[in-house]
Amino acid sequence: MDWDAFFTLHDGLPREGPGDGESLDWALALAGVPEDGVICDACCGPGADIAGLLAHVPQGRVEAPDLHGPFAIRAAARFADDPRVTVRQGDMGDLSGAYDLIWPAGALYFLGVAEGLARWRGALSPGGAVAFSEACWCTSAPSAAARAAWAEEYPQMTDEAGVTAQVSAAGYRILGQRRLSDAAWEAYCTPMEARIAALRPGADAALASVLDEAETEIATWRACRTEFGHLLTVARPA
Ligand SMILES: C[S@@+](CC[C@H](N)C(=O)[O-])C[C@H]1O[C@@H](n2cnc3c(N)ncnc32)[C@H](O)[C@@H]1O
Repeated sequence: MDWDAFFTLHDGLPREGPGDGESLDWALALAGVPEDGVICDACCGPGADIAGLLAHVPQGRVEAPDLHGPFAIRAAARFADDPRVTVRQGDMGDLSGAYDLIWPAGALYFLGVAEGLARWRGALSPGGAVAFSEACWCTSAPSAAARAAWAEEYPQMTDEAGVTAQVSAAGYRILGQRRLSDAAWEAYCTPMEARIAALRPGADAALASVLDEAETEIATWRACRTEFGHLLTVARPA
Protein backbone atom coordinates (compact mmCIF):
# COMPACT_ATOMS: atom_id res chain seq x y z
CA MET A 1 0.00 0.00 0.00
CA ASP A 2 1.29 3.45 -0.95
CA TRP A 3 0.24 5.45 2.12
CA ASP A 4 0.61 8.84 0.43
CA ALA A 5 -1.84 7.69 -2.26
CA PHE A 6 -4.11 6.14 0.39
CA PHE A 7 -4.34 9.41 2.31
CA THR A 8 -4.80 11.39 -0.93
CA LEU A 9 -7.99 9.39 -1.42
CA HIS A 10 -9.09 9.63 2.20
CA ASP A 11 -8.29 13.31 2.71
CA GLY A 12 -11.56 15.24 2.76
CA LEU A 13 -13.95 12.30 3.22
CA PRO A 14 -16.62 12.97 5.86
CA ARG A 15 -16.12 9.61 7.58
CA GLU A 16 -13.67 6.71 7.51
CA GLY A 17 -15.99 3.78 8.07
CA PRO A 18 -19.69 2.85 7.99
CA GLY A 19 -21.85 4.67 10.53
CA ASP A 20 -24.71 7.12 10.93
CA GLY A 21 -26.64 9.17 13.47
CA GLU A 22 -29.44 6.65 13.79
CA SER A 23 -27.17 3.82 14.96
CA LEU A 24 -25.20 6.20 17.18
CA ASP A 25 -28.43 7.33 18.90
CA TRP A 26 -29.48 3.70 19.39
CA ALA A 27 -26.15 2.82 21.02
CA LEU A 28 -26.03 5.86 23.29
CA ALA A 29 -29.60 5.31 24.49
CA LEU A 30 -28.61 1.74 25.46
CA ALA A 31 -25.42 2.87 27.17
CA GLY A 32 -27.37 5.41 29.25
CA VAL A 33 -24.68 8.10 29.18
CA PRO A 34 -25.45 10.90 31.72
CA GLU A 35 -26.11 14.40 30.35
CA ASP A 36 -22.89 15.65 31.96
CA GLY A 37 -20.98 12.57 30.80
CA VAL A 38 -17.54 12.34 29.23
CA ILE A 39 -17.27 10.39 25.97
CA CYS A 40 -14.11 9.25 24.22
CA ASP A 41 -14.48 9.14 20.42
CA ALA A 42 -11.46 6.81 20.21
CA CYS A 43 -10.17 6.86 16.61
CA CYS A 44 -12.28 9.88 15.67
CA GLY A 45 -10.98 10.05 12.09
CA PRO A 46 -12.17 13.33 10.52
CA GLY A 47 -14.69 13.74 13.38
CA ALA A 48 -17.88 12.48 11.72
CA ASP A 49 -19.46 11.31 14.99
CA ILE A 50 -18.43 14.11 17.34
CA ALA A 51 -21.55 16.28 16.86
CA GLY A 52 -23.83 13.26 17.36
CA LEU A 53 -21.97 12.27 20.54
CA LEU A 54 -22.08 15.83 21.90
CA ALA A 55 -25.87 15.89 21.48
CA HIS A 56 -26.11 13.12 24.12
CA VAL A 57 -24.02 14.99 26.70
CA PRO A 58 -25.39 18.57 26.64
CA GLN A 59 -23.54 19.37 29.90
CA GLY A 60 -20.64 17.04 29.20
CA ARG A 61 -17.76 16.79 26.77
CA VAL A 62 -16.09 14.67 24.10
CA GLU A 63 -12.41 13.75 23.93
CA ALA A 64 -11.34 12.55 20.48
CA PRO A 65 -7.91 10.98 19.84
CA ASP A 66 -6.79 9.63 16.47
CA LEU A 67 -3.40 8.18 15.60
CA HIS A 68 -3.25 9.83 12.18
CA GLY A 69 -2.21 13.48 12.61
CA PRO A 70 -4.02 14.93 9.57
CA PHE A 71 -7.34 13.40 10.70
CA ALA A 72 -6.87 14.85 14.18
CA ILE A 73 -6.05 18.27 12.68
CA ARG A 74 -9.15 18.15 10.50
CA ALA A 75 -11.46 17.08 13.34
CA ALA A 76 -9.93 19.72 15.63
CA ALA A 77 -10.57 22.42 13.02
CA ARG A 78 -14.23 21.40 12.76
CA PHE A 79 -14.72 21.91 16.52
CA ALA A 80 -12.20 24.67 17.12
CA ASP A 81 -14.88 26.93 18.65
CA ASP A 82 -16.39 24.31 20.94
CA PRO A 83 -14.74 24.13 24.39
CA ARG A 84 -16.56 20.83 25.02
CA VAL A 85 -14.44 19.06 22.40
CA THR A 86 -10.78 18.09 22.77
CA VAL A 87 -9.18 16.50 19.72
CA ARG A 88 -5.61 15.23 19.84
CA GLN A 89 -3.28 12.93 18.00
CA GLY A 90 -3.15 9.87 20.23
CA ASP A 91 -3.34 6.10 20.55
CA MET A 92 -6.57 4.37 21.57
CA GLY A 93 -4.43 1.85 23.44
CA ASP A 94 -3.39 4.53 25.93
CA LEU A 95 -6.71 5.87 27.20
CA SER A 96 -6.81 6.85 30.86
CA GLY A 97 -10.36 8.25 31.29
CA ALA A 98 -12.50 8.22 33.24
CA TYR A 99 -15.11 7.91 30.47
CA ASP A 100 -18.83 7.22 30.58
CA LEU A 101 -18.57 5.85 27.04
CA ILE A 102 -15.72 4.78 24.77
CA TRP A 103 -16.81 4.87 21.12
CA PRO A 104 -14.18 3.37 18.77
CA ALA A 105 -16.50 3.40 15.71
CA GLY A 106 -15.28 0.80 13.25
CA ALA A 107 -11.73 0.87 14.62
CA LEU A 108 -11.46 -1.57 17.53
CA TYR A 109 -10.14 -4.26 15.18
CA PHE A 110 -6.80 -2.42 15.07
CA LEU A 111 -6.35 -3.35 18.75
CA GLY A 112 -8.57 -6.44 18.77
CA VAL A 113 -11.83 -6.77 20.70
CA ALA A 114 -10.36 -8.72 23.63
CA GLU A 115 -7.28 -6.49 23.94
CA GLY A 116 -9.25 -3.23 23.66
CA LEU A 117 -11.92 -4.20 26.17
CA ALA A 118 -9.30 -5.42 28.63
CA ARG A 119 -7.29 -2.20 28.37
CA TRP A 120 -10.33 0.07 28.64
CA ARG A 121 -11.82 -1.48 31.76
CA GLY A 122 -9.70 0.88 33.86
CA ALA A 123 -10.59 3.91 31.70
CA LEU A 124 -14.34 3.60 32.28
CA SER A 125 -16.19 5.42 35.03
CA PRO A 126 -18.51 3.31 37.22
CA GLY A 127 -21.43 2.30 34.96
CA GLY A 128 -19.42 3.28 31.86
CA ALA A 129 -19.75 1.35 28.61
CA VAL A 130 -17.99 0.65 25.31
CA ALA A 131 -19.86 0.76 21.98
CA PHE A 132 -17.98 -0.54 18.96
CA SER A 133 -18.81 -1.67 15.44
CA GLU A 134 -16.92 -4.63 14.10
CA ALA A 135 -16.79 -6.19 10.64
CA CYS A 136 -18.52 -9.57 10.91
CA TRP A 137 -19.67 -12.53 8.87
CA CYS A 138 -23.45 -12.89 8.57
CA THR A 139 -23.28 -16.35 6.99
CA SER A 140 -21.43 -19.54 7.82
CA ALA A 141 -20.75 -20.11 4.10
CA PRO A 142 -19.46 -16.88 2.54
CA SER A 143 -18.92 -16.77 -1.22
CA ALA A 144 -15.42 -16.86 -2.68
CA ALA A 145 -15.71 -13.15 -3.52
CA ALA A 146 -16.57 -12.23 0.06
CA ARG A 147 -13.82 -14.43 1.50
CA ALA A 148 -11.26 -12.97 -0.90
CA ALA A 149 -12.25 -9.44 0.10
CA TRP A 150 -11.43 -10.02 3.76
CA ALA A 151 -8.63 -12.60 3.49
CA GLU A 152 -5.86 -10.04 3.64
CA GLU A 153 -7.61 -7.15 5.36
CA TYR A 154 -9.05 -9.03 8.36
CA PRO A 155 -8.37 -12.78 8.26
CA GLN A 156 -9.50 -13.27 11.86
CA MET A 157 -12.94 -11.77 11.15
CA THR A 158 -15.64 -13.70 13.03
CA ASP A 159 -19.44 -13.67 13.29
CA GLU A 160 -21.92 -12.41 15.91
CA ALA A 161 -21.38 -15.48 18.09
CA GLY A 162 -17.62 -14.95 17.87
CA VAL A 163 -17.83 -11.29 18.90
CA THR A 164 -20.22 -12.19 21.71
CA ALA A 165 -17.75 -14.80 22.99
CA GLN A 166 -14.86 -12.29 22.88
CA VAL A 167 -16.88 -9.70 24.80
CA SER A 168 -17.93 -12.23 27.44
CA ALA A 169 -14.37 -13.56 27.77
CA ALA A 170 -13.19 -10.00 28.43
CA GLY A 171 -15.63 -9.85 31.37
CA TYR A 172 -18.19 -7.52 29.77
CA ARG A 173 -21.98 -7.86 29.62
CA ILE A 174 -23.66 -7.10 26.29
CA LEU A 175 -26.44 -4.49 26.51
CA GLY A 176 -27.42 -4.80 22.85
CA GLN A 177 -26.20 -5.73 19.36
CA ARG A 178 -27.41 -4.86 15.88
CA ARG A 179 -26.09 -4.69 12.35
CA LEU A 180 -25.36 -1.32 10.81
CA SER A 181 -27.90 -0.45 8.12
CA ASP A 182 -27.26 -0.03 4.40
CA ALA A 183 -27.68 3.72 4.96
CA ALA A 184 -24.75 3.64 7.41
CA TRP A 185 -22.61 1.94 4.75
CA GLU A 186 -23.70 4.40 2.08
CA ALA A 187 -22.68 7.28 4.37
CA TYR A 188 -19.15 5.92 3.92
CA CYS A 189 -19.29 4.58 0.33
CA THR A 190 -21.13 7.34 -1.53
CA PRO A 191 -18.71 10.20 -0.70
CA MET A 192 -15.82 7.81 -1.39
CA GLU A 193 -17.20 7.12 -4.87
CA ALA A 194 -17.42 10.84 -5.59
CA ARG A 195 -13.82 11.31 -4.43
CA ILE A 196 -12.63 8.40 -6.61
CA ALA A 197 -14.33 9.96 -9.64
CA ALA A 198 -12.76 13.35 -8.91
CA LEU A 199 -9.25 11.91 -8.50
CA ARG A 200 -9.34 9.40 -11.36
CA PRO A 201 -8.35 11.80 -14.18
CA GLY A 202 -4.61 12.29 -14.00
CA ALA A 203 -4.04 9.76 -11.21
CA ASP A 204 -0.52 8.32 -11.25
CA ALA A 205 0.03 4.56 -10.98
CA ALA A 206 0.15 4.49 -7.19
CA LEU A 207 -3.02 6.53 -6.81
CA ALA A 208 -4.81 4.59 -9.57
CA SER A 209 -4.08 1.37 -7.71
CA VAL A 210 -5.52 2.78 -4.47
CA LEU A 211 -8.61 4.03 -6.33
CA ASP A 212 -9.08 0.60 -7.93
CA GLU A 213 -8.86 -1.07 -4.53
CA ALA A 214 -11.41 1.31 -2.99
CA GLU A 215 -13.75 0.79 -5.94
CA THR A 216 -13.48 -2.97 -5.50
CA GLU A 217 -14.16 -2.63 -1.76
CA ILE A 218 -17.39 -0.71 -2.46
CA ALA A 219 -18.47 -3.08 -5.25
CA THR A 220 -17.83 -6.09 -3.01
CA TRP A 221 -19.95 -4.64 -0.23
CA ARG A 222 -22.80 -3.92 -2.66
CA ALA A 223 -22.60 -7.45 -4.12
CA CYS A 224 -22.09 -9.36 -0.85
CA ARG A 225 -23.81 -7.20 1.76
CA THR A 226 -25.99 -10.08 2.99
CA GLU A 227 -22.81 -12.06 3.73
CA PHE A 228 -20.92 -9.57 5.89
CA GLY A 229 -21.61 -6.35 7.68
CA HIS A 230 -20.69 -4.27 10.71
CA LEU A 231 -22.07 -5.45 14.04
CA LEU A 232 -22.59 -2.66 16.58
CA THR A 233 -22.16 -3.93 20.14
CA VAL A 234 -22.80 -2.01 23.36
CA ALA A 235 -21.19 -3.62 26.41
CA ARG A 236 -20.33 -2.83 30.03
CA PRO A 237 -17.95 -4.50 32.47
CA ALA A 238 -19.93 -7.29 34.19
C1 LIG B 1 -12.15 2.76 10.27
S1 LIG B 1 -11.53 4.37 10.66
C2 LIG B 1 -12.83 4.99 11.68
C3 LIG B 1 -12.75 6.50 11.89
C4 LIG B 1 -13.96 7.16 12.50
N1 LIG B 1 -14.35 6.57 13.75
C5 LIG B 1 -15.10 7.15 11.51
O1 LIG B 1 -16.03 6.33 11.66
O2 LIG B 1 -15.06 7.95 10.57
C6 LIG B 1 -10.22 3.98 11.67
C7 LIG B 1 -9.52 5.15 12.33
O3 LIG B 1 -8.72 4.61 13.36
C8 LIG B 1 -7.53 5.37 13.43
N2 LIG B 1 -6.58 4.54 14.19
C9 LIG B 1 -6.01 3.37 13.83
N3 LIG B 1 -5.29 2.86 14.84
C10 LIG B 1 -5.41 3.73 15.87
C11 LIG B 1 -4.90 3.75 17.20
N4 LIG B 1 -4.11 2.78 17.67
N5 LIG B 1 -5.24 4.78 17.99
C12 LIG B 1 -6.02 5.79 17.55
N6 LIG B 1 -6.53 5.83 16.29
C13 LIG B 1 -6.23 4.80 15.46
C14 LIG B 1 -7.19 5.68 12.00
O4 LIG B 1 -6.32 6.78 11.88
C15 LIG B 1 -8.59 5.98 11.45
O5 LIG B 1 -8.94 7.33 11.59
